[in-house]
Amino acid sequence: MSQFLSNCSADALATAAQALKDGSLVAFPTETVYGLGVDATNAEAVARIYEVKGRPSDHPLIVHIADLKYLDQWISDIPEYAIALSREFWPGPMTLILRRSELAGDFITGGQSTVGIRVPDNSVALGLLEAFHKLGGAGIAAPSANRFGQVSPTTAQAVSEEIGEYLSEIDLIIDGGQCEIGLESTIIDCTAELPRILRPGAITIAMIEEATGIKVSNSLNCQSVDFERESIRVSGSLDNHYAPKAKVFLDQRPLVGSGFIALESIATPEGVIRLAAPISVEEFARVLFSALREGDHLKIAAIYIAQPAGDGIAIAIRDRLLRASGMRKVKEENN
Ligand code: TXA
Ligand code: MG
Repeated sequence: MSQFLSNCSADALATAAQALKDGSLVAFPTETVYGLGVDATNAEAVARIYEVKGRPSDHPLIVHIADLKYLDQWISDIPEYAIALSREFWPGPMTLILRRSELAGDFITGGQSTVGIRVPDNSVALGLLEAFHKLGGAGIAAPSANRFGQVSPTTAQAVSEEIGEYLSEIDLIIDGGQCEIGLESTIIDCTAELPRILRPGAITIAMIEEATGIKVSNSLNCQSVDFERESIRVSGSLDNHYAPKAKVFLDQRPLVGSGFIALESIATPEGVIRLAAPISVEEFARVLFSALREGDHLKIAAIYIAQPAGDGIAIAIRDRLLRASGMRKVKEENN
């Protein structure tokens, strides 16, 4: 069983950074979801991440750094538009896929020639990263701190429920409260002439267009990326990812006895258990994963969700909901 760290003082984060240096796993908050961190240059420790998550080892990990100045060592090349994106949105909920350097080992990239990098926008995450760099660390690799295929955790409690039993006493879970955004980062492939969204998130197509001056056409809309044909492996793109135990229906007419998640403006029919009533799409994103978890705690068999309409983060919400509902057919690779 791991230790719980609810004190996020500079001293406590320095201790956690030293634990990472020594090969421990440290779960920590980011503005998107909680990550399960490890020294990104320590192959043995990284192998433990895959065990704890139950994740296939060819699925690459995102390397987190505290600042743009730590980027160069991880990559061999960066297009102009990616420089513009990094300046505009880091720290923030955006992961850039770039050509890797030698430092990014096969055990991080799943043997691919690219590496995913992100500067998170959360004071605890940045404090931990700064302390880790101060000890000579190059970056912290961190997947979402859930078992493979499950809902990402947005609180330390959820991390503990997900993976607590798989961690050992040298590992830590840092409690930094609830994640502000609640959905995983936007992943942008920056290895071709034009940027391409691999996973939608809080950094939207419009924001990317504005920052780069490049028109991201509809065909690049993340929802239409055909992952089956992709040589790039984005594990979050597998169809039954983000699935709670309850059966999820994307329908705003819940049956009696089932759970219901919808914007506040939509009333709760009689006999239905309201799991969340967010007042905006941003709040919808923030509470969605914990509401799905709550449904599982209550042992509800079916959860009905009224999908929010529109662009922006609503696209990312609908992407996760499609997967949680299993409405995208389960592919052979996810068996
Ligand atoms: O918001 C986030 O991105 C969170 C926080 C902790 O930073 N992290 C996260 O990590 O969601 P993970 O491992 O659960 O999802 C990252 C996704 C995976 O689907 C992985 O396959 C993809 O990023 N990925 C990582 N490196 C990649 C690469 N070089 N090429 C393509 N996809 C990559
Ligand atoms: Mg994940």
